[in-house]
Amino acid sequence: MKRIWMFVFCIGTFAIADARKCSKLTPAGFKKTDGVFDYDHGGKVCENLNTRTTFGNDVRQHILDRHNMYRANLANGCAKLPNGTRAPSGRDIKKLVYNCTLEAIAQKFANQCAGHVHSKFETRPHIGENLYFGWDPSRKAKTDWFAKGADAWWAELQKYGLKYSADNSKIFYGKGAGHFGQMAWANTRSVGCGFNRCARTVYMVCNYYPAGNINKKTIYQKGKPCKNGKSCKSGKCDKATGLCFA
Ligand SMILES: *[C@@H]1O[C@H](CO)[C@@H](O)[C@H](O)[C@H]1NC(C)=O
Ligand SMILES: *[C@@H]1O[C@H](CO)[C@@H](O)[C@H](O)[C@H]1NC(C)=O
Repeated sequence: MKRIWMFVFCIGTFAIADARKCSKLTPAGFKKTDGVFDYDHGGKVCENLNTRTTFGNDVRQHILDRHNMYRANLANGCAKLPNGTRAPSGRDIKKLVYNCTLEAIAQKFANQCAGHVHSKFETRPHIGENLYFGWDPSRKAKTDWFAKGADAWWAELQKYGLKYSADNSKIFYGKGAGHFGQMAWANTRSVGCGFNRCARTVYMVCNYYPAGNINKKTIYQKGKPCKNGKSCKSGKCDKATGLCFA
């Protein structure tokens, strides 16, 4: 009797380790983050760069976690398409790290409150850029702006879907889904963001390195999320998420 129980237990354990549950990758209540983060008084320099952001390390970690949560969803075949089915799982999708150099560039641009135009390419070599505006005339709202921005960018996948190359081997982002394309870009390995309150809006800029959305290149390769270092080019797998360390 005892032996049978042990056997059952082992099978159960392996099954959990193998398939990461979509519900675990997207924790319940992940959207309820309003009021948790202070965007206006946190100001702590990023490493030794004087980027003069108004937010601190808790927000930086939050940005990173939000991005990696979505990327893990994609890697594990959990990300939803417009017809309710899920995007194919992906191999060797990198786990992002926070990049203070990118933050410095993003913040410098955010400080200009430039509106709906991207910064000049020359100011950000090989760097991708996502912008988000939030309507906030009262300037008091305790909205979790970076979460809202990241969610809006990622939502393009469910709105516009993916596109495939003629031979079905390459996955491109659908028309209108460029922000998603950059957030999901498998080969991108770091992110850094800036934040500013402009006239009646908040303005967010996230920079990515290396840049995604490269013409005719795939967002990610279909395949299995990593289980161990063998399935990562770097040889290093983050077993909790199936993303590869860069
Ligand atoms: C849903 O969309 C995907 C991607 O366009 C497609 O491959 C799949 O066949 C569709 N599934 C259904 C049930 O319509
Ligand atoms: C951070 O960004 C800078 C500027 O684009 C880049 O040179 C550097 O390699 C990046 N670091 C990481 C870890 O991605």
